[in-house]
Amino acid sequence: MAVSETLDVPQGGSRDEIYRALLPQIESVIAGIDDLIANLANIAAILKSAFDFHWVGFYRTTSPGMLTLGPFQGPLACVTIPFDKGVCGAAASGRETVVVGDVDAFPGHIACSSLSKSEIVVPLVHRGTTALVLDIDSDKTDDFGDVDRVWLERVVALIKAQNFRS
Ligand code: SME
Repeated sequence: MAVSETLDVPQGGSRDEIYRALLPQIESVIAGIDDLIANLANIAAILKSAFDFHWVGFYRTTSPGMLTLGPFQGPLACVTIPFDKGVCGAAASGRETVVVGDVDAFPGHIACSSLSKSEIVVPLVHRGTTALVLDIDSDKTDDFGDVDRVWLERVVALIKAQNFRS
């Protein structure tokens, strides 16, 4: 399959417009690719280059109640996160998206980078448990809202449809 090396990102578009333009491109990049890690790597690259978020990446559930760092773009990150720690753990154990406007006010937030100010974590729930989370950090407070939640949940749904079919 031929994959374009360049993304079509509407210049000066709103975040909603950019997500809207990206979603079919993400779908096309992962279409027919059974390798989960390859797909997570490309999606991290797409979201990082389109929005220039501080950190974009994935943590996968590698044993019950434990997340391990997966493909990401941005500064070095913590390798393991238990389900009872951090924003990632809260989303993984709660099986729902967590949006944190001010990470310093979130009890248990794990500060991988002192520049992170706000965060959104979207879980992929498969057969009742969290298989992985998409984690995005911003260097601005209150940077994430419903637009991000809705579109990033659609991104995660694409991953689920492509790589968690059984
Ligand atoms: N801040 C996250 C940890 C992961 S890093 O942000 C990449 C948390 O509290 O779970």
